[in-house]
Amino acid sequence: MALRVRDLDAARQTLAARGATFCTGTLEAADHTGAPHRWFEIATSLGDVRFRFVERGPEGLPPGFVPAAGTPTQQNRFGFQVIDHVTSNFLTIAPHIAWLRDVMGMEEYWRVHFHTADVTKRKDFGSGLASTVMWDPESGIKLANNEPVTPNYEASQIYTFVESNHGAGVQHIAFHVPQIIPAVDGLRRGGIEFLQTPATYYDMLPERLVQQKVGTLKEEIDTLRRLGILVDGADDRYLLQIFMVEGGVLYDDLHAGPFFYEVIQRCGSRSFGEGNFRALFEAIERDQLARGVVASPPTQLDAGAGS
Ligand SMILES: [Fe+2]
Repeated sequence: MALRVRDLDAARQTLAARGATFCTGTLEAADHTGAPHRWFEIATSLGDVRFRFVERGPEGLPPGFVPAAGTPTQQNRFGFQVIDHVTSNFLTIAPHIAWLRDVMGMEEYWRVHFHTADVTKRKDFGSGLASTVMWDPESGIKLANNEPVTPNYEASQIYTFVESNHGAGVQHIAFHVPQIIPAVDGLRRGGIEFLQTPATYYDMLPERLVQQKVGTLKEEIDTLRRLGILVDGADDRYLLQIFMVEGGVLYDDLHAGPFFYEVIQRCGSRSFGEGNFRALFEAIERDQLARGVVASPPTQLDAGAGS
């Protein structure tokens, strides 16, 4: 994971004072404009993931990269602007939260605990997770961190991810867009696959928006339904989000793993869509009841909505 800094030498000094473990010295290469691109890497408590600190040239591209023909740099046709958050999965998050606080200087931003047993009262199936989001208030960088919870610790989608990933790792990257509808429309036309959302989710949506006191949804529910975009909010602030299928399917390569991308538009909401856990779970349960199918852990939840 690469993090841009203004002053690489100052970053190295600060990290050294906080006990960071360096994997490299300070390295330097020229980007395609000839400007210097400097970086170093540190080990983390996130499996074998390293954090790379980068001080880059004005164009921002790493050495070896050139802008695609006809594409002005800093722009993207789907409106991708910045990374909203990066979410990682662990068997236990406590060591990483402490590391993010003590070595990275980050602070707690948000936390949530969700279990399907809270919704159904049935403890014999279902799964859950606990999530803590840490952030750097100056840059706004947000790192979400998930762990499995009981009952059924091993059934948690977080546990399954760590098994499938052969260790803790990055589960998803969320791209912020100013307008999610044209972005998802364009991505779908380009052949990108997203997770299916049950029709019952949208049947229940108007009622849920009333409960959440969201009175000013600017988007048409039928458009959201057609594109499979999820909504979560409170008190007239909401967010719109959608999850791509996992990397193994997206790239048709199992080595791309259980990792996936999220696309998110924020309309005042600072949360991460935790209300969609419950909404998706209830929608799937309603759908299964209607079809006479016994409820089981739903795949939409497996993908990690809510963080
Ligand atoms: Fe997310």
